[in-house]
Amino acid sequence: MKRLIPTLKGDKVELELLMLVRTILAGCKEIAFRVSQGALGDVLGSTLDENIQGEQQKKLDVIANQLLKSMLLSDENVRSIASEEEDSVVPGAADGRFIVAFDPLDGSSNIDINGQIGTIFTVFAARPELAADDPEQFKQTGRKQLAAGYVLYGPSTMLMLNTGGATRCFTLDRTHGGFLLTNEAVSIPKQTAEFSINMANSRFWFEPTTKYIAELLQGEVGPRNKRFNMRWNAAMVGDIHRVLSRGGIFLYPKDNRDADKPAKLRLLYEAMPMAMLIEGAGGSAYAESSAILDIEPDSLHQRVPVIMGSADEVAHAVSFY
Ligand code: AHG
Ligand code: MN
Ligand code: MN
Repeated sequence: MKRLIPTLKGDKVELELLMLVRTILAGCKEIAFRVSQGALGDVLGSTLDENIQGEQQKKLDVIANQLLKSMLLSDENVRSIASEEEDSVVPGAADGRFIVAFDPLDGSSNIDINGQIGTIFTVFAARPELAADDPEQFKQTGRKQLAAGYVLYGPSTMLMLNTGGATRCFTLDRTHGGFLLTNEAVSIPKQTAEFSINMANSRFWFEPTTKYIAELLQGEVGPRNKRFNMRWNAAMVGDIHRVLSRGGIFLYPKDNRDADKPAKLRLLYEAMPMAMLIEGAGGSAYAESSAILDIEPDSLHQRVPVIMGSADEVAHAVSFY
């Protein structure tokens, strides 16, 4: 096993990017420690506040956001920050070379049940012509991500990271405090018999989703001629970690529960970084008929439908839309 060394070509930007990823990971290690303390660490339960998206903030959402924000703002290379828990862009160093977007705590409904939760992050080059507080900084397609990853706070704390080549997986060594490389090229099987969707929303789905899932549910006696199994963690990090580990298809489609929010997952700090990890492992990631990595965000908290995972299964699912 090797120590964490993201692609390092020796030039200054790469070295600065490496330092920035290390800053993010330092924040995540602190979050991992707080999570492990559970009720002993006063991190469970809710606050009385809502975020910009009208969701009640859990204590850990706020703690994780503050930790990452303060660590990133102390890095002179960070020009702007966007977070699920911040209404607008938080300006950093005026001449910083990078911008960072993150979901400080993904899977908030799992916090109080000791379930899977995580932190999702993405790094882009700053646009030098724009001010640090300009949300247009984040108007960049996912193809321009310099680094994307998540840290999963599960029975082991794991890092999934992509800095342009293969998606790599690291495991936190609690004895020494470092992330050790445990899979240098994650690879998702092209085919799968496992799907992941919140079936409780089925009466709100649109026809393409209803038809696709109906085929899967018919199993070996239906048109797919195979029996599918279903898993739903209610934390994208947990579901995507399973897909990266053994294949599968993950969907959070549009539905008609709330006309103002037809999709649930956020493009910038959920769908985009996960799409980079999935594509880097040979999988596919779509927002219905467009590749997620080709979509340019028109706002920080923009939501998109998500279909990602095993390439052949995603291609089949996308053919319904
Ligand atoms: P967050 O906790 O950051 O708001 O994200 C939760 C997201 C995602 O992680 C998960 O896939 C989905 O919400 C679960 O949604 P349901 O509760 O509708 O199943
Ligand atoms: Mn989330
Ligand atoms: Mn969150």
